[in-house]
Amino acid sequence: MQRAVPRAPFGAGSGLHVCRWPVPRSTRGARGTARVTVHRAEDDHPPRPRPHRRRPRRPAAGAPAPIRSAGYRRLMDPRHVRDLLARAPLMARELPGFGAGADPGAAPATPTELFAAWLAEAVEAGVLDPGAALLSTAGSDGRPDARIVALRDVEPVESAWVFATDAASPKGVQLAQRPAAALTFYWPLQGRQIRVRGDVTQAPKDVSLADFASRSPASKVAGLVGRQSTPMGALPEWNEAAERAGRELAEHPDAHPPGHTVYALAAHHVEFWQGDAGRRHVRLAYAQLPDADWERALLWP
Ligand SMILES: Cc1cc2nc3c(=O)[nH]c(=O)nc-3n(C[C@H](O)[C@H](O)[C@H](O)COP(=O)(O)O)c2cc1C
Repeated sequence: MQRAVPRAPFGAGSGLHVCRWPVPRSTRGARGTARVTVHRAEDDHPPRPRPHRRRPRRPAAGAPAPIRSAGYRRLMDPRHVRDLLARAPLMARELPGFGAGADPGAAPATPTELFAAWLAEAVEAGVLDPGAALLSTAGSDGRPDARIVALRDVEPVESAWVFATDAASPKGVQLAQRPAAALTFYWPLQGRQIRVRGDVTQAPKDVSLADFASRSPASKVAGLVGRQSTPMGALPEWNEAAERAGRELAEHPDAHPPGHTVYALAAHHVEFWQGDAGRRHVRLAYAQLPDADWERALLWP
């Protein structure tokens, strides 16, 4: 028999087994909230669905050989995830501290200045890919979406964070429908997070063309292949498309994908977060005032 409400504290010895995440679709409550079902060990358990055994598929031509080692299978077992996370605790290391800017009165007047100072420290410290940022968007359905993009520049006059993508990609379509976004940086070596929120505009065409022209040959080929986020039949199709794009680039060095677009996220809120192993995190928030000046304030972590 299933009971929908916990009747006793959870934990070892309580005799209760809580179903683990992810909650199967059929047990989700109204509006996507999770309804957790609890069983007593002595209760009759509902009959378990018989595992659906699929016939092993023949690997596609050129596909890598499947991994069969028992050790790797154990690592791939999702029940192992909690153990792995326990072995890699968050921010359990010496972190640099916020620095002088933690005093809102002493912090730089604009968030682009503090961003530039923190980026310089990240590069100096050897943070990997400090220009990789999570771009969060929502389309006309209001549902959030997110993915990493490369920061191309920061423009101090407009307080704009600049990135580029294909306007026909899902994120490009979402930005056309709802031109607002967030960019989030996380630099683990320093335990630093920077959150930027604002309105997004497309740069003029010549700026996008210049951005594409400045790219490496490999990046140009990838851009010319295009079709970002549309389904691909098999990996060899990528090689053929890349060869075609490479030939096009050799014949027409000015070739560019029609949708390649530079976007500027003009910030109205920026937050700098310095993590601390003892959980005394420091947060400094910048909010833009109507006169375009910035107000600075500390936030509770
Ligand atoms: C480090 C890193 C940098 C990336 N930079 C970009 C980028 O600058 N522009 C871009 O369109 N996609 C970039 N991507 C790929 C995106 O994360 C994403 O897979 C792709 O743009 C499709 O996103 P969409 O389907 O939401 O449009 C990058 C991915 C990573 C991991």
